[in-house]
Amino acid sequence: MKTEQYEFVLRRLATILAVGILTLSLIAAVTGILLAFYYEPAAGGAYDSLQAIANEVSNGWVILRVHDLAGNGLIAVSLIEIVVMFLGRQFTNSWLTAWISSILLTLTAIALGWTAMILDWTQLGYWRLSIELGTIEAIPFIGSQLRDIVTGGGAITTATVEHLYTLHSYILSVGAIAIALIHLGGLLVQERQQKQLQIKLAATNLAAESESAQAQNDPKSLSLSSAESQK
Ligand code: HEM
Repeated sequence: MKTEQYEFVLRRLATILAVGILTLSLIAAVTGILLAFYYEPAAGGAYDSLQAIANEVSNGWVILRVHDLAGNGLIAVSLIEIVVMFLGRQFTNSWLTAWISSILLTLTAIALGWTAMILDWTQLGYWRLSIELGTIEAIPFIGSQLRDIVTGGGAITTATVEHLYTLHSYILSVGAIAIALIHLGGLLVQERQQKQLQIKLAATNLAAESESAQAQNDPKSLSLSSAESQK
């Protein structure tokens, strides 16, 4: 009974977190689109445009703050979701879909944070990206090509900001929303399957109980069953 209750709580918690994940993705996407109205993906221009959003655009600082909170919150909540799903593992198809999608979602959320590193064109972002590009370059065989693809030529320039901005705002953000939908869908299907299973079990138990009660009350059935057992 205790295990059943524990599993129920974990299942519900996973579904609630999945709703939270989808909400955070949508909030980040909407605020990201609002930022895009004023953001300029260029070396130097990126910093100036974000300063203008924060100081000159009305409520611009709120949009920036909400985007940062939703984006970083998404990473945190999807990591918690992985733990909750692991504890309540079921090994049904719908659970596996939700489990794999939760891992993909966490990776996408981390990639969204990573691609945003240089989007503000600050000293911190620039030097952090320089160090991480060094790590990418150290990958055998494909390292230097990968660096060229990410940066658009090797050095960190406007092309780098444009490449990472494209990945961040068009590819990864759309991917995050799609995966969040699949994840929630998987969990909802799992909840429905579990409910149907419980109803089936309850019906079988009820039928077995009424059969044994009938057998006890009906003398004919008793004599019949004792005759059968004598045979
Ligand atoms: C699921 C959708 C999205 C997620 C999860 C997300 C996540 C993030 C994260 C984590 C950051 C870094 C915040 C920080 O710590 O400074 C960021 C920054 C940024 N994002 Fe997004 N983002 C999403 C969609 C978008 C879209 C659709 C756009 C634009 C079309 C966009 C534009 C930006 C810009 C311009 C920044 C730099 C702002 C800054 O550094 O303060 N994002 N995003």
